[in-house]
Amino acid sequence: MKIQGLAAKTSGAELEPYSYEAPSPQNFQCIIKVLSCGICHSDLHMVDNDWEMSNYPIIPGHEVIGEVIEIGSQVNHIKVGDRVGIGWQRTSCLSCRDCLRGSENLCDEMQALIATGPGGFADYLEVDSRFAFAIPDGIKTNVAGPLLCGGITVYSALRYAGMGSGLEIGVIGVGGLGHLAVQFASKLGNRVTVFTTSKDKAEFAHELGANETVIVEKNQPPSAPSQPLNILLSTVPASIDWASYIDFLDSDGTLTLVGVPDAPLSIPGFPLLMKRRRILGSVIGGRAMMQEMLSVAERYQIEPIVEIFPMEKVNEAMEKVRNNQVRYRAVLSHQL
Ligand SMILES: NC(=O)c1ccc[n+]([C@@H]2O[C@H](COP(=O)([O-])OP(=O)(O)OC[C@H]3O[C@@H](n4cnc5c(N)ncnc54)[C@H](OP(=O)(O)O)[C@@H]3O)[C@@H](O)[C@H]2O)c1
Ligand SMILES: [Zn+2]
Ligand SMILES: [Zn+2]
Repeated sequence: MKIQGLAAKTSGAELEPYSYEAPSPQNFQCIIKVLSCGICHSDLHMVDNDWEMSNYPIIPGHEVIGEVIEIGSQVNHIKVGDRVGIGWQRTSCLSCRDCLRGSENLCDEMQALIATGPGGFADYLEVDSRFAFAIPDGIKTNVAGPLLCGGITVYSALRYAGMGSGLEIGVIGVGGLGHLAVQFASKLGNRVTVFTTSKDKAEFAHELGANETVIVEKNQPPSAPSQPLNILLSTVPASIDWASYIDFLDSDGTLTLVGVPDAPLSIPGFPLLMKRRRILGSVIGGRAMMQEMLSVAERYQIEPIVEIFPMEKVNEAMEKVRNNQVRYRAVLSHQL
């Protein structure tokens, strides 16, 4: 079948219509009709080739919600008509140590959807059904997409950093990922402090569940929160004042990074040593964690706050993401 997508043909280019031929789904593959797709900051990194792994033309989009319309012979856990979501991960080997212990996201053969083929800014998409996740009935199609990358990324990072309840948790950057991190941490019973460069976000943060906000002024060190933090999650796609943030951690506290800094971290050793603090990195999440995150989101009514654009307004939407003007996640939809 012919699939109509929106692609960047060179680094940093605007997206334009681009069509390609997809074969009939074999084995575990299936075809979905795209209903909506979030725009993650990683889509911008990939269009810009920031990570030097982009293949052009590149069709971005990895927060995809769609309806299954055709399945391969070995697909058995989803059927035609089901509503599913696909995130950053296209597939993995499913037989290495990482895969077998439920960390498919750490597999050496992990394929990223938009680094190894077309993504979800399109009318249809062929995917590996083993990385397509049923969307719980209580989560609406136009808001579900951001959970598939933004949601799983912050949920998994917070869980591996030790998130339970009753902890002091800080979130740096209240964008697509950050506004979900605040909701997960707060609704699961933690006290949340937000660090933001945007005054309007500081005002809105308590509606997301934050207890405290720190406005970070450009080129100024951030002010200390009122309490030392057990976990501090950075969702910022840039280098920030790591030395100050390390000092905000409690003893045994963890700074966990999901935002991708544009330069190596520069961190003094003593503040780490003297309080036994840790720095952690985290990338998306495994399949079991994805299922858990989706049910937690449904049960605790954790819902992405989205700005919806028709698919053809993709360039306008991407520009708004670039300029930090979206509150809080842009979603392209065929369902307006
Ligand atoms: N590790 C993973 O698996 C994973 C998965 C998905 C995305 N990511 C990465 O996570 C990062 C965030 O993605 P996103 O989709 O949430 O992006 P986003 O919606 O653009 O949000 C990023 C937020 O960071 C803050 N920010 C941006 N530039 C900043 C700067 N120079 N200094 C300080 N704060 C700044 C802004 O928040 P305020 O307005 O509140 O200051 C902005 O809203 C990206 O690097 C993306 O590639 C990683
Ligand atoms: Zn993403
Ligand atoms: Zn593997």
